[in-house]
Amino acid sequence: MSPPEQLILREIQAGDRVTGLSLGDKETTPLKTFLRKCAKDFHQANVARTYVLVPDDEDTTIWGYITLMCSEIKLGNTHTLDDCKAANRYNDFPAVKIARLAVDHRIRGRGYGDALVQFAISIARQDIMPRIGCRFLVAESKAGALSFYKRIGFTILNTENNKERRLPVVFIDLHKLRSN
Ligand SMILES: CC(C)(COP(=O)(O)OP(=O)(O)OC[C@H]1O[C@@H](n2cnc3c(N)ncnc32)[C@H](O)[C@@H]1OP(=O)(O)O)[C@@H](O)C(=O)NCCC(=O)NCCS
Repeated sequence: MSPPEQLILREIQAGDRVTGLSLGDKETTPLKTFLRKCAKDFHQANVARTYVLVPDDEDTTIWGYITLMCSEIKLGNTHTLDDCKAANRYNDFPAVKIARLAVDHRIRGRGYGDALVQFAISIARQDIMPRIGCRFLVAESKAGALSFYKRIGFTILNTENNKERRLPVVFIDLHKLRSN
């Protein structure tokens, strides 16, 4: 199957083909399994929402996806809010979490990964932050994806414990991003 010229980004739907995603190495198997077995049910049940890259409404083969959910980040004293000092006594801050992110290896390097993360940022800023306190976007990054996240502006949570984790937490302060 050759990669399509164009892809659209939309919510996952019941009829979408969840078995065609090819991610390469073995470490990414859980990302394929999640898409195959859980993504649709989690989406329907409001546990986690998944957005997919598909060619069109006829060919619904999924070439990439992002799954988002409510979360929090334990900043401790690793990061202070200079614009709201009174909040610094709290350990936990509200966040949107990128629970899963994957792009088919045949279409990597074309900007789709970046587009999926930018989509998550816009949902948080336009739909969530104006109505519900939510300051950060967080993810648990595979070692191979750390530079990808850093290029976008994410920071690694600065604790020894976190840096030693197999999937370290990375975060971005949504409130500090300039408006597009
Ligand atoms: C990480 C991933 C989503 C990136 O998808 P992608 O579509 O290739 O990313 P993009 O094309 O948008 O890349 C954006 C930029 O990051 C860079 N980049 C992408 N993947 C990178 C990586 N693994 N390491 C370093 N830089 C990377 C690109 O070169 C590009 O830079 P540029 O703007 O200067 O050209 C994809 O590689 C993937 O699915 N990996 C396996 C699963 C995974 O790691 N998921 C995420 C974390 S759990």
